[in-house]
Amino acid sequence: MILVTGGAGFIGANFVLDWLAQASETVINLDALTYAGNRENLASLDGDQRHLFVQGDIGDSALVADLLARHQPRAIINFAAESHVDRSIHGPEDFIQTNIVGTFRLLETLRGYWSNLQDEAKQNFRFLHVSTDEVYGSLTKDAPAFTETHRYEPNSPYSASKAASDHLVRAYYHTYGLPVLTTNCSNNYGPYHFPEKLIPLMIVNALAGKSLPVYGDGQQIRDWLYVKDHCSAIRRVLEAGTVGEVYNIGGWNEKPNIDIVHTVCALLDELRARTDGHSYREQITYVTDRPGHDRRYAIDASKIERELDWKPAETFDTGIRKTVHWYLENQDWVANVQSGAYREWLEKNYTGRSA
Ligand code: NAD
Ligand code: DAU
Repeated sequence: MILVTGGAGFIGANFVLDWLAQASETVINLDALTYAGNRENLASLDGDQRHLFVQGDIGDSALVADLLARHQPRAIINFAAESHVDRSIHGPEDFIQTNIVGTFRLLETLRGYWSNLQDEAKQNFRFLHVSTDEVYGSLTKDAPAFTETHRYEPNSPYSASKAASDHLVRAYYHTYGLPVLTTNCSNNYGPYHFPEKLIPLMIVNALAGKSLPVYGDGQQIRDWLYVKDHCSAIRRVLEAGTVGEVYNIGGWNEKPNIDIVHTVCALLDELRARTDGHSYREQITYVTDRPGHDRRYAIDASKIERELDWKPAETFDTGIRKTVHWYLENQDWVANVQSGAYREWLEKNYTGRSA
């Protein structure tokens, strides 16, 4: 079996669902169920014996040691993290605790377990750390895309905490020989994406008749990958990646934010037109920029394509259409995630952000 951390969040839940749709190997899913973790994402697995959900913290060494000793997984895939840049700006503490201290404790607990494994199990074990392209910092307009050897230049508390976790993972390989793999991926989108992030926020706000808040001039560039393609890349790295190596994962889909918002509006105009016949575009509002906002990310995914023969299955056009359909068809899910805490977050982040 495998142990997945953070498997009730956006990417983790997609990973667990895809894994169990394709393999019979059991998944232990360790998730603290923070505001971003949602059991409803995994509702289709209710009663499935191959999914063992455990609510808990990656930093709880006793709990993790017990899970490892009892279930003897052959791999850990570490998704657990605080993941939202804006939240890291309002309050970095949780990011330091989970992304740095939590990852450190997880590695340390794993070291104790792994060092006592017998030869073959020890050799075959893998710790796959899921990280982000944001650790590389910001690119100028014409600079080449991030390769795996690009210098680390994190600019937000979130990306700094992820960078620190990447360094710890690297150090545990070089110092203790822990069999690690690290992936650095670009912006994901797709089903179960919590509507604090750009694409789901725009869909949810548009349908609710609210404004669509575009930070700054909307010309910041991100490289977008459909979440299921990220999941397939992780499965491939786990299966065939070289221990100690880093793999950048991306969709070769660089787009300015304002283009993303226009695309979402056009799809909603087509699939769920406003009753007044106007375009959702009229709801766009330019608001005060994110402090320290990185201008451009771009992933050079040649290494994973060349060495592991991985390629994304979706283009941006097919992936974004599927995504908008999913939100239209899952309005109950959308309603259920809009708790009081979610509304408080919107107020904290958007009130007073002058147009
Ligand atoms: P998310 O915020 O949707 O989910 C994170 C999950 O981790 C939640 O279920 C949460 O409950 C859980 N969690 C948080 N702290 C925990 C702790 N201490 N112990 C156990 N569980 C804990 O995040 P996501 O967007 O699914 O991202 C998953 C991973 O992928 C993160 O490591 C993130 O840095 C990385 N990543 C995300 C993207 C993206 O575009 N979303 C891109 C590249 C990399
Ligand atoms: O690049 C990978 C990263 O992508 C992941 O590591 C992070 O976990 C993930 O959250 C994401 O980070 P971003 O900051 O790029 O994602 P977000 O959806 O928050 O913002 C995308 C872009 O849209 C960014 O330039 C900021 C802008 N934005 C965002 C929001 C929420 C807006 O213009 N308005 C908004 O309301």
